[in-house]
Amino acid sequence: MEKLVELKDIKAFHRKKQILNGVNIDVQKGEFVYLIGKTGSGKSSILKVLYKEMDIAEGEGEIVGLNLNKLKYSKVHKLRRQLGIIFQDFQLLPDRSVLDNLMFTMEATGWKDKKAMKSHADLTLEQVNLQNIGDKYPHQLSGGQQQKVAIARAMINSPKVILADEPTGNLDPESSQEIMNLLSAISKGGTAIIMATHDMDIVKRYPGRVLKCEEGVISEVQLEKHE
Ligand SMILES: Nc1ncnc2c1ncn2[C@@H]1O[C@H](COP(=O)(O)OP(=O)(O)O)[C@@H](O)[C@H]1O
Ligand SMILES: [Mg+2]
Repeated sequence: MEKLVELKDIKAFHRKKQILNGVNIDVQKGEFVYLIGKTGSGKSSILKVLYKEMDIAEGEGEIVGLNLNKLKYSKVHKLRRQLGIIFQDFQLLPDRSVLDNLMFTMEATGWKDKKAMKSHADLTLEQVNLQNIGDKYPHQLSGGQQQKVAIARAMINSPKVILADEPTGNLDPESSQEIMNLLSAISKGGTAIIMATHDMDIVKRYPGRVLKCEEGVISEVQLEKHE
């Protein structure tokens, strides 16, 4: 087993308010891990610690072999290029085509050869079942299609870990299923996925380890299985 994420006794604050109160998490290669819990319970904050948007006040964090405590903000790009991040609101660049959205990320992560970039972007779009939409702009796509583009963008550098913050939160049930099918397939390919959600139907339907956030700590929960 290859450990890709380890948080040990993490405490974190927003302004003076303590948000995380001793969070422990281990994630191995290819694991699908849900973070569940009420709004305000700290799910997004845990993900923010993992992509170094939020500081660790106490405790130790490691992800994809990088030490989150020691990583300087000036080197955060080294971390971000080894992670895929997906948000509830897609966060595509509205003034660029789908292809240019992907190319933008590729440029920012060190790709140089335009021809290689385009063919890799096209291939990645095919992997998320999107063909022939490279020239479209985000506003011309459905929410489900936009989220697939966001998944393609997250996968562009074959990350070992994908962090997803309520990725189905803005989608209808059918699009949510498509997104979950894609994420499940990606994790079966060896990528670890950590997904915050409060949609328990999804959690029950798509297998994964379930971690519950409550009062700034995490506990592992076993769901009842329904036939
Ligand atoms: N940028 C922020 N501005 C204001 N409050 C924040 C911010 N980040 C976190 N918090 C506070 O931290 C707590 C946890 O929030 P969050 O991690 O977003 O929880 P969740 O994703 O489970 O809804 C909440 O009480 C929230 O008010
Ligand atoms: Mg949240």
